[in-house]
Parts: sequence; C-alpha cells; structure tokens
Amino acid sequence: MHDYDVFTVGSKAEVLAKSREFWNPGKTDFWSESGVDLVIDRRESYFIWDMSGLRLIDVHLNGGTYNLGHRNPELVEAITTGMRSFDIGNHHFPSSARAALAEALIGTAPAGLTKVVYGSGGGEAIDIAIKTARHATKRRKIVSIIKAYHGHTGLAVATGDDRFAKLFLSDRPDEFVHVPFNDLDAMAAALQPGDVAAVIMETIPATYGFPLPAPGYLEAVRQLCDRHGALYIADEVQTGLMRTGEMWAITKHGITPDILVTGKGLSGGMYPIAAVLVSERCAGWLTEDGFAHISSFGGAELGCVAALKTLEICSRPETRSMVHYISDLVGRGLRDIQARYPDWFTGIRQNGVVMGLEFAHPEGAKFVMRELYQRGVWAIFSTLDPAVLQYKPGLLMTPELCEELLERTESGIGRAAVAAGRERAGSRS
Ligand SMILES: Cc1ncc(COP(=O)(O)O)c(C=O)c1O
Repeated sequence: MHDYDVFTVGSKAEVLAKSREFWNPGKTDFWSESGVDLVIDRRESYFIWDMSGLRLIDVHLNGGTYNLGHRNPELVEAITTGMRSFDIGNHHFPSSARAALAEALIGTAPAGLTKVVYGSGGGEAIDIAIKTARHATKRRKIVSIIKAYHGHTGLAVATGDDRFAKLFLSDRPDEFVHVPFNDLDAMAAALQPGDVAAVIMETIPATYGFPLPAPGYLEAVRQLCDRHGALYIADEVQTGLMRTGEMWAITKHGITPDILVTGKGLSGGMYPIAAVLVSERCAGWLTEDGFAHISSFGGAELGCVAALKTLEICSRPETRSMVHYISDLVGRGLRDIQARYPDWFTGIRQNGVVMGLEFAHPEGAKFVMRELYQRGVWAIFSTLDPAVLQYKPGLLMTPELCEELLERTESGIGRAAVAAGRERAGSRS
C-alpha cells in the first residue's frame, strides 16, 4: 500500500468502478475483458504488483520507459536531490539543466546532429520533428509506413494507422503518405515527385510487432531521401537508449539521420521528457524564431536531471555488456521454447532486447499475454499486429530473473497453445 492518503478510493474493485465512471470506460473494460484486470500498485526494479498482490515480471516496460527498472535507486536519488534545487523551470529561458542535457545528448548522437529541441512526450517530439522538416525543406508531405506508430498528437497521429487518425478527423491523406514496410519500390514511388519533406521511420516498428528491416532497406531509404531532397527522421523512442546494444539503433545501419527523436526511457520513467536532435541543416528555425515551438513542460528541468542520469547509466560499459548478455541468454531460451512448440510459436524477431514473438493465430499474442499474466509475467500484444507479442526485457535484469522469466514464459506459451487450439475448434464446430 502507499504511504500517503490522497486517494479516496480503496479496494481494487472500487478503483475499477471509479476508473470506469470518471476516467476511461473503454480502456478499463478492454483490459478486464482481456483477462488482464491490472491495477498497478507497488513497483520496484523489474517487478510490478497488481492490487490483488499478484507480482509480475514487467517485460512490457511501457515501451522501454522502464528500461532501467521501476524506480531505479540511482534515478530516485538523482531526482530527489534535484527537487531540492529545481522544479519544471521556465521554458522561455536558458537553463543549466537544459543546456547540460542537450550537450550530453549531442555527445551520444550520430555525427551531424548538433541541436536539441525538447518536448514533454514522444508525440509532441514527433510533431516537432515534422515541423522542423517542413521548415527546412519548405515541403509539406511526410512519408511513413503502413502500421507506423509515432504517437497521437496532431501531426504524429496522421503518420499512423487510420484507426486512431480517422476517429478524430485527423487523417490527411494528401499530406501524409503511407507505404508498406520493407517495400523499396513503394518508397521510391512516394519520393519520386520530389515534394516530400521527410520520411519518418522507426528503426524497428514497435507497435507493428517489431518486424525487422530487411538487410539494406533502411540504408536504401536514406539514399532515396538524399536523391529526392527529403529528410530522414529516425524515431528512436522505443529502439534507442541501448535497447539494441547501441545507444541508438540507427547507428547499427551506419545511417546518420537528419532528425532523431527520443522519449519514453529518456528519464527512466521518473519524469516526462522527450527530445528531438536535429542537424545544422534543420536547425534554422531555432535562430529565425526561437519561440516557434512553445511547450511549458518541454525540457522540464527535473526531467533533464533524470535524463542526464539515465544517459550516464546507459553509457556505462557494464550496461552495454549486460544488454549483450541478456539478449543472448533470453534469445537462446526463447529458441529452446520455440523448438518445443514449432507449430504455435512460429518466429522470434530480435535485435538486442527488442523482441517480438510470433504466434500462429491472428490474435495469438492475446492468448499468450493472458496466460503469462496468470503466471506472473506482464508482456503486451502488438496493437497493430496481435499475432505478435512484444517481449522487452530490461537492460539490467539479473541472470536469475531472466531464467525465472523464461520458465514462466514457457509454461504460458504452452498453455496458450491449448487455449488457442480450443478456440479454433470451437469456432469450427
Ligand atoms: C515509436 C514511438 N514513437 C512515438 C511514440 C509517442 O510517444 P508518447 O506516448 O510519449 O507520446 C510512441 C509511443 O508509444 C512510440 O512507440
């Protein structure tokens, strides 16, 4: 239980009822009906506890927000100390925290990225990236992949699936062109007219279930951008910050993006902040009108304090070694499990601790998610391809915890095979 008494609701049943009544009935009901009636209570390291007391190993990590674990002690210490001197700050003015984080981010970035613009979340950062590209090129069109997910703010939502854009009349097919992933001909055709401001790409598209880019695909997209005067925006909100064993996944492809976006894990899940790293070619608006993007909480100083500590932890050689160790251990364990259920567990997509598990049912990951939940593991299905389970071990998980995770995973996958088979048989009869 919590140490404070600000809440007026007590039991889990009351929280669910009030959430349905005052917060979000659609979400509350969706999870209850999916067999995941989770109300997160305690959280520590790579564990979360439901209000019922159920302990879960977290391999959702909120898309990497908790890469370093929940309430990582070093981050708690940094932000607690930070609170003695800082608050959000005043976004209009230069500040020591914002300047220090900008310098640190540029220090980790691919060469050629020279300035940092802050947002308060990933969607806002994507909007900033798109506005920046439009200013730099004086073009309006943005190309993204079908089933892209770059957030739900005004411009970001238009790059993604119709499910989220159309509901709010935010689809803009004349300005936002969508092409199939890994299809270079479609990308070339979209860029051919020479009116595209930027291609925006996640290095590995998370919400689509982490399909891996075909060898040479991203490199060829970069070349097409250069040929047609378009910019390359790398969305590293989920793939950055060491998850692939490098600080930024895009560097594994030898690509220097014109714009790089980071968020989620940037402040270790302790304080919202996101950042856009831009090249000198794209930085013109920051001189022309430095007030052109305004965000009261963008670059909040406490967020900067947490992010500086996060970057420092992610940059340690031992963190890199842990990521390589965990990806090897968990990858091998998953392949062993797959060998036992080859007709059900049909594929493993992996780059470091970025992992997508494929199942032989269009909604297979929902079955597995439910069974894992009952066995103390929290992993989420991919919204835009529910055949695939997002499986995201943390950067600092201990070998013992990885072993426990694999044991529970094997049992859940086996049980889900039975449940999915039963559903299939039921739907045939
Ligand atoms: C790749 C990617 N980009 C951008 C976003 C948007 O971030 P936020 O939810 O902080 O607005 C997300 C969120 O899941 C994401 O996965």
